[in-house]
Amino acid sequence: MCGIVGYTGWRDAESVLVEGLKALEYRGYDSYGLAISDGAISVVKDAGRISDYRNNGNIPAGNVGIGHTRWATHGVPSAKNAHPHTDCTGNFAIVHNGIIENYARLRAELTSSGHVFASDTDSEVIAHLFEECYDGDMMHSLQEVVGRLEGSYAVLVISSEDNAIAAARNRSPLVIGVGDGEIICASDLVPIINYTREVIFLEDGDCAVFSENTLRIVNGGSDIARPPEFIAFDPESARKTGFDHYMIKEIFEEPEAFSRTLASVQDIDEIQKFIKRAESVMVVASGTSYHAGMIFRYLMEEFSGIPVRTEIASEYRYVRPSPDEVVLVISQSGETADALTALRRAKFYRCRTIALTNTLGSSITREADHVFYTMAGPEISVAATKSFIAQLAALMKIVSFCGGRGCSLLLTDVKQSIEAVLQLDVAEATAICARASTLISIGRGVFYPVALEAALKMKEISYIHAEGYAGGELKHGPIALLSEETPVIAFVPPGETRNLMLANLKEIASRRAPIVAFADPDDVDVAEIAEVVIPIRHRNVFADVAAYTVAAQMLSYEVAKRLGRDIDKPRNLAKSVTVE
Ligand code: M6R
Repeated sequence: MCGIVGYTGWRDAESVLVEGLKALEYRGYDSYGLAISDGAISVVKDAGRISDYRNNGNIPAGNVGIGHTRWATHGVPSAKNAHPHTDCTGNFAIVHNGIIENYARLRAELTSSGHVFASDTDSEVIAHLFEECYDGDMMHSLQEVVGRLEGSYAVLVISSEDNAIAAARNRSPLVIGVGDGEIICASDLVPIINYTREVIFLEDGDCAVFSENTLRIVNGGSDIARPPEFIAFDPESARKTGFDHYMIKEIFEEPEAFSRTLASVQDIDEIQKFIKRAESVMVVASGTSYHAGMIFRYLMEEFSGIPVRTEIASEYRYVRPSPDEVVLVISQSGETADALTALRRAKFYRCRTIALTNTLGSSITREADHVFYTMAGPEISVAATKSFIAQLAALMKIVSFCGGRGCSLLLTDVKQSIEAVLQLDVAEATAICARASTLISIGRGVFYPVALEAALKMKEISYIHAEGYAGGELKHGPIALLSEETPVIAFVPPGETRNLMLANLKEIASRRAPIVAFADPDDVDVAEIAEVVIPIRHRNVFADVAAYTVAAQMLSYEVAKRLGRDIDKPRNLAKSVTVE
C-alpha cells in the first residue's frame, strides 16, 4: 500500500527516485510524485503512473530527494492528493505510507492556528506539524512530530535547510540501504538492491536521520546502534526478462519456487514439536494466503489427524483465541495489516505463534515466536501466484512431517506436475470464460479452496465476476445463477470428490451452463459432459492440488490478456495491504 523512497548521496536523486518508484509501483499506482531539495524544495506530482512522469523543468538537479507512489485511502487519486505534501512555507516535504488515525483532530488544530491545507489526505498534517515543530534539528523535530501522531506510518521528510532525510516507522515497513557515500531508503528491498546489499530494517518507534555518510537511529529517546545486514538477492528475479507480464513470468517460476521452498524449510522438527504439543492449529491469513491455509487444513487433518481451524485475518478480531492453539499466520508480504493485527491478538491471548512469509525482515517476522520463509523470490505482479505455490510447499512439508513418511513421498511428484501444467493450451477454455460476465467455480474437499482461489484470481485480473463455491453448496442457492451465459469452472480430480463432482456437473449441464472442467485426461465421464477439459494427469493429492491451482492461474491470465486488462497492476488493488 503506497511505496516510498528517499535518496541522499552523490547520484542525481531524480533518476534514483523515478527508478525506485517504478520498482515499488506494485504497492500502489494511482498517483505519484517526487521532491528534491537543493536549498529549496521542488515538487512534481500527478495522478496516474510513474511511467507517465516527465521532468517538465520543475525538478532541478539535486542529490537529496523523496518519492511516493500512492494507493488512495483518504482523498481520491488526483494531483493535489498525490504525495509529496508540503507545509505552508514550502520548506518541508513529506511522503507517507500508512494511516494517521488522529488526522482529523490534528488538521482542525493546525487549521485554527493558521495552517492552510492543500489536499484531502490524512498525510498532509505531517508536513504542517513539521513546520510547527522544526527547531533546526531534524531528529528532535521528527521526534516531536511523531509524538503527536497516532496510527501507522512510514514517513520520509526533507527540508530546504538540511542536506538530510528524516525517517520514522510505526507499523509500516521502511528499509535503509547503506551504500558507499549514499543512502537509499524505501518501503522494501526491491529499489535498494541496485545500489547496495547492506540494509537496516527499521523497527517500530525508530526515528532516523541520514545524509550521504551519516546515519543516526533513535528509539524511545536513546540512540540505537543497528549494524546493516547483508542481503543475498538476485536483481534479475525482479525483472520481466522477455515475458509479456510479470504474472506469467512468475507462473513459470513456480516449479522452482516450490522445490526451493521445500528444500529450505529446515527447522521443521521444532515446528512439528510446537504443533504436536498444541491441541490444534489456527490458521489466520487473507486472500490467496487464506486459501493456502484452507488447503493446509484439509491436508493436515487428513494426514496427521491434528485439528486445524482457519480464520480470515480481518475476522480474527471477533474470534476468541484459545491459548491451547498454535496460531499460524500466513502472509506473502508479511506486512498485511489484518494479519499483523491478528498476530498481535493471538499473542495477547498467549497463543504460540508461527509466521510463514516470503519477505525477509517484514513486520510479522519481528513479532511471531517462530518464523519460516517461503523461497518464492520477489513477486512483482499484484496477483499472487508463485508465492502461493511456495506457501503450499512449506505447508505440505509441515503436513508431511506431522503425517509421516507416506506423505513425504507424495511431495516428490509435485514439481513435475506443475511443470507439465505449464505446457497446457487453455485457449478453448479462455474463449468460453472471456465472453462471460459471471463465472462460477466449484470444487469439493481440498479442491474447494482451489476453486475459491481460481475465482479470486479470475476476478482480480480479468474483472469478470467470479464466485467460488463448494460443489455441494451449488444446489443451496447459486444454481439459480446458471444459464447458457454462466460458465462453470469445475475441479474434478480422481479421488474421493470425483463422483459427487460428476453429479454436480450433471446438474449444471441440465441448466445448459457451459462447463470448463479440470480433470484427468482419462476421465471419459467428465469429457462427455464438459464443454472443455483442461487435462491434468493425476499423480497424488499434493501434486494435483498444486497442478490444478497453477492451471487455474494460467486460465485467469489468458482471459485477462484476451480482455486487454492491466494484468500486473489490476485496478484498485495493491500488493501489500497495510491498512485494516
Ligand atoms: O501479503 P499477504 O499474503 O498477506 O496478502 C494477502 C492478500 O492481500 C493477497 O493474497 C491478495 O488476495 C492477492 N492480491 C491475491 O492475488
